[in-house]
Amino acid sequence: MKNYDNVVIFDHPLIRHKIAILRDEKTSTKEFRELVEEITTLMTYECLKDAPTVEKEVKTPLETCTQHVVKDNSVVIVPILRAGLGMVNGIHVLFPSARVGHIGMYRNEETLEPQTYYCKLPDGIQEKLVLVVDPMLATGGSACDAIAHLKSIGCKNIKFLGIIGAPEGVSRLAETHPDVNIYVSTLDRCLNERGYILPGLGDAGDRLFGTK
Ligand code: PRP
Ligand code: URA
Repeated sequence: MKNYDNVVIFDHPLIRHKIAILRDEKTSTKEFRELVEEITTLMTYECLKDAPTVEKEVKTPLETCTQHVVKDNSVVIVPILRAGLGMVNGIHVLFPSARVGHIGMYRNEETLEPQTYYCKLPDGIQEKLVLVVDPMLATGGSACDAIAHLKSIGCKNIKFLGIIGAPEGVSRLAETHPDVNIYVSTLDRCLNERGYILPGLGDAGDRLFGTK
């Protein structure tokens, strides 16, 4: 895959370790859910290094000093349903005041085109840093469409966080939305003929929610 200025692929042993367990078909739903949250928290630490901050006076037992604290309610998390829901708590751990908007999409199994079935976003999202989250970036269709919708309503500061990316999806998202920073924990080999990521982890929604 080409190098893109707007793409960060994490190459960290602690994340690689967790992803290895996540991929394992024997990993339970409970452990899968916990790992998705933990990996998301590790990614958020890097991805929010330019998080909006404000100055605050803090009185220590010795004196008063000026500190920088994260700006309340300055971030909106937008999970792409269903699987994106599994990443929300992983961000809330570090940024509890983040609001949550939901975009419901499923892929048509024949065409692999995303179909939107639900959208509910917080008022004032246009002024916030918007984190679109979905563990799987396969063809990139769902992420591209979700971000196009957010831009169409006026969002200007958008980042995408995914756990596993296929080269096809990462390239498509990076080229369609060059102004969006994309964070992916790991880059896999390719897609199979059904649009599944290889080696991947299977269907992320089913593994998170135990539906199969
Ligand atoms: C999965 C995944 C992404 C999408 C990725 O959702 O969570 O949203 O596929 O594929 P793409 O990059 O080719 O668009 P799915 O359609 O399986 O819905 P689900 O989360 O409800 O299971
Ligand atoms: N969606 C998934 O859940 N897994 C894939 O491998 C591709 C799309």
